[in-house]
Amino acid sequence: MIAKTIKLNNGVLLPTVGLGTYRSKPGEVEEAVKIAIDAGYRHIDCAWFYLNEAEVGSAIREKIASGAVKREDLFITSKLWNNFHAKDAVVPKLKESLKALGLDYLDLYLIHWPFGTKEDAPLMPTENLQDCFSDVDYIETWQGMEEGHKLGLAKSIGVSNFNAEQIDRVLKNGTIKPVVNQVECNPNLNQKKLIEFCKQRDIAIVGYCPLGRSEYMGRPGFPEPTIFDPKVAEIGKKYNKSPAQVVLNYLVSLGISVIPKSVTKSRIVENIDIFDFTLSKEDIAYLDSCNKNKRVCPLTDFKDHKYYSFNAEF
Ligand SMILES: NC(=O)c1ccc[n+]([C@@H]2O[C@H](COP(=O)([O-])OP(=O)(O)OC[C@H]3O[C@@H](n4cnc5c(N)ncnc54)[C@H](OP(=O)(O)O)[C@@H]3O)[C@@H](O)[C@H]2O)c1
Repeated sequence: MIAKTIKLNNGVLLPTVGLGTYRSKPGEVEEAVKIAIDAGYRHIDCAWFYLNEAEVGSAIREKIASGAVKREDLFITSKLWNNFHAKDAVVPKLKESLKALGLDYLDLYLIHWPFGTKEDAPLMPTENLQDCFSDVDYIETWQGMEEGHKLGLAKSIGVSNFNAEQIDRVLKNGTIKPVVNQVECNPNLNQKKLIEFCKQRDIAIVGYCPLGRSEYMGRPGFPEPTIFDPKVAEIGKKYNKSPAQVVLNYLVSLGISVIPKSVTKSRIVENIDIFDFTLSKEDIAYLDSCNKNKRVCPLTDFKDHKYYSFNAEF
């Protein structure tokens, strides 16, 4: 099945379902990407931080070489990690992702998080945090992103995990408008206010952890993913769809794109097979009622960082 698309503010079309690749291990992600392309996925979500771009790229290139898909039909995203927020670090890191992927350009390059860490800090520090934080302003980082776009290395540029105020600062200080804000979005955290705020500014939302990162189920303090809610399974039965399909259909109906991760063939196929049913008003109302504003990815270790985004309401 081919996903519907959203038109970005620069005219580029973004498929509303993409394959997530975080925690997809080397040894399994290559196959997952090939299965996804065969199943109709045209949007793959990658990041320098996931440390698997070489394998993802190898699968993409194999599918292009075999004639299964053309490069121009794919929408490949990558992201700049926190240690490299200095303006001069952006283009070299973008080139590093392109080299690992074996591609000439990205369709979308994102600032992964608004807050930076020092270049030599651990990638995800858990101690001596204040020593690891850098105070490079993401406006400076955005200037590096604009440079990457002007060089033709990224057709579109955007941000991730930015709150409303941070989005407005980028709009005020940048010369290119971000096309996307990629943020966590699932029925536990439906992000309606941020979606509306971005819509008013013609910025699309890509929702990560759409399935609530189901493998973390049962971890203390972790929001129970809605795909395990018996009521969602009941809704699915009416349409002959799985709970995951119900949740993904609901999220796409909010006007966003979703990037469920899977390395399991049946689930990869299932997660894009969501465009042949429409949830009733009552079913949508139930999913709306699941909102608890609880995050899978609060990154609370960074809560004292000057540019931490989740202290604001949205
Ligand atoms: N911008 C950011 O800061 C950021 C943060 C987090 C994530 N992301 C992106 O968003 C993607 C998705 O988020 P996520 O990977 O954290 O969580 P997710 O997509 O919500 O959940 C993935 C989990 O759900 C399982 N799953 C997949 N399809 C399923 C189905 N149909 N039924 C039941 N379980 C299913 C997967 O298992 P199997 O793989 O074993 O099938 C995996 O354990 C990431 O991979 C990454 O690309 C971005």
